[in-house]
Amino acid sequence: MFTIGGIALLAAGAVAIGLVAARHRTEAVRGDNAVGDGACLSCHQQKASFELTAHRLTSRLPTRASILGSFSHGENALRTMNPNLYFRMDSTATGFYEIAVMGRAPDTSVIAQRIAYVTGLRKGQSYLYWVGDQLYQLPVSYWRGTGWANSPGYQDGRPNFERPIPPRCLECHATWFQSVADPSVINRYRPAGALLGITCETCHGSGRDHVTRERSLLRALLPRAIVNPTRLPRAQQLDGCALCHGGTAPLRTAAFSYVPGQPLEKRFDLTTAPDTGEIDVHGNQVALLERSRCFRSSQMTCATCHDVHRQQRDTVALSGRCLTCHTVQNCGLFPQHGHELIGRCVDCHMPLLTSTTVISIYLGHRLRPQVRTHWIKVYPQPPRFWMR
Ligand code: HEC
Ligand code: HEC
Ligand code: HEC
Ligand code: HEC
Ligand code: HEC
Ligand code: HEC
Ligand code: HEC
Repeated sequence: MFTIGGIALLAAGAVAIGLVAARHRTEAVRGDNAVGDGACLSCHQQKASFELTAHRLTSRLPTRASILGSFSHGENALRTMNPNLYFRMDSTATGFYEIAVMGRAPDTSVIAQRIAYVTGLRKGQSYLYWVGDQLYQLPVSYWRGTGWANSPGYQDGRPNFERPIPPRCLECHATWFQSVADPSVINRYRPAGALLGITCETCHGSGRDHVTRERSLLRALLPRAIVNPTRLPRAQQLDGCALCHGGTAPLRTAAFSYVPGQPLEKRFDLTTAPDTGEIDVHGNQVALLERSRCFRSSQMTCATCHDVHRQQRDTVALSGRCLTCHTVQNCGLFPQHGHELIGRCVDCHMPLLTSTTVISIYLGHRLRPQVRTHWIKVYPQPPRFWMR
């Protein structure tokens, strides 16, 4: 009798857990439900290489190591076209500063602001600062290969400390910031609650219930409670990247509310540009890829080429991904170049193109980053090193 009752109880318990399990809903990661990368990596050590990627490091606290620009004397100034204005970057015991120096010595006046966060890693960086609980962008950014430069879109020669940081900017470059509701001000946040960098839970959803499950004795009865993109339909896999790589279309819902695995359509106005419209190479890899015949005639997703858990910038290795669907003989240049084409597919069919939207004006020059286009096709001009 006792054992039968026990089994019945166990069975009832299992059914109850099963019901709870079936109802598990993934949550967007927030300050109060995040477990953090350290917890994930305690079991998924093979993903540790993620901690060194541009995603993970795209927003950080300022340190000598996280700021790419130099604070050494002689290298820490940025002249402008205005003879009465230059910027100086200072590292002191209290922090790292951008200082606008106005007027001519000895009658100069200054505006000094302390760097609170560093954003960007691969090509360049911008710096953010607090005024009370409002977050702003600093006027001087850094570009690899160039050094300190006016922030993109800033007028040269004007000390502009007034550009607010909207939640959408942080949504693409951080895991979580808590906004302070204020209908008239868009850039108020609770400084204490910020989770910097893109973390595991940005793409996989809050991991709290998954970790509880994996540590539970009843593990087998509980749902996995974590999003694995490979199990999703293709459109949702792409949406997981389109949140940040699908352009800056207006949002319908609050920042940081996107739940991984859910369709993104709910958030965006789907008045996407017609196929003839121009799409900048910066920030919209999804729309460019969607224009490619490769994409349209296959089940390609971003993961066909990218493993976001590690850094992958070698275009020779990435050209190998083309050969999972093509052969080198498919290339119209095979008769002339033969096997020399191997490892070079990306150079010609996904060339680096200059962004037309990200522009830093600097002493009359226009600095524009080059970005790898994701519209895979035949381009009229092969890159210069191919001309012999
Ligand atoms: C206590 C160990 C443990 C921790 C902590 C843990 N995981 Fe897991 N995770 C596992 C195990 C074991 C599996 C395999 C589960 C299975 O196949 O049923 C798994 C599976 C997964 C999967 C694949 C799920 C699927 O449906 O295929 C993802 C994605 C994942 N974990 C991400 C994470 C993330 C992100 C974190 C941190 C928020 C995390 N894990 C923390 C042990 C852990
Ligand atoms: C929360 C926003 C966000 C999501 C989601 C996101 N990315 Fe990114 N991604 C970024 C940002 C921001 C950068 C630029 C990082 C930098 O250099 O500071 C970036 C950079 C990259 C890079 C260049 C990395 C390097 O080291 O050169 C690749 C490749 C990439 N993302 C692919 C993807 C793919 C594939 C997905 C979907 C699985 C994805 N991203 C999802 C924001 C995001
Ligand atoms: C819709 C998502 C999105 C928004 C909004 C956004 N960014 Fe980015 N940002 C990206 C992605 C993706 C990249 C890198 C890939 C590329 O160039 O397409 C990037 C690149 C950058 C870079 C250069 C990083 C590098 O080294 O490649 C900086 C700096 C940067 N963003 C700062 C900002 C700031 C500051 C804001 C807000 C004022 C902002 N971004 C708004 C997605 C976004
Ligand atoms: C930019 C989005 C993104 C981030 C950040 C991210 N992942 Fe993933 N993850 C994916 C995608 C997409 C897949 C499915 C395709 C693949 O395996 O690459 C995946 C698959 C997985 C899987 C299941 C497949 C496997 O290889 O076992 C695990 C486990 C996992 N991720 C753990 C992690 C952990 C742990 C972190 C943080 C250290 C992390 N992920 C960060 C996008 C992301
Ligand atoms: C997932 C499979 C897949 C991958 C990976 C892939 N392609 Fe394709 N690609 C296709 C298919 C399918 C077509 C269309 C063939 C057709 O319609 O006859 C195509 C078409 C093309 C075309 C013709 C485009 C046009 O507009 O006429 C070029 C060029 C091309 N691919 C180059 C590449 C290169 C370079 C890579 C690697 C960067 C690549 N492909 C990766 C499947 C793929
Ligand atoms: C056919 C292969 C292929 C596919 C599919 C693909 N990429 Fe890429 N991606 C590349 C190559 C090659 C590079 C150049 C490597 C590098 O410079 O890091 C690259 C670079 C990038 C970069 C860095 C661009 C730069 O110049 O800073 C981002 C961001 C990126 N990919 C995002 C995505 C996203 C998001 C998707 C899905 C919409 C995607 N990629 C799909 C091949 C691919
Ligand atoms: C030096 C630049 C260059 C390199 C490197 C290159 N291609 Fe091409 N590819 C071209 C050009 C140019 C054409 C168009 C030729 C024509 O129309 O006669 C082409 C055509 C193609 C086509 C379309 C053929 C068709 O009829 O639609 C495919 C597919 C293709 N290449 C794949 C590849 C692959 C895969 C690689 C790497 C193994 C590669 N290409 C390397 C320049 C290049």
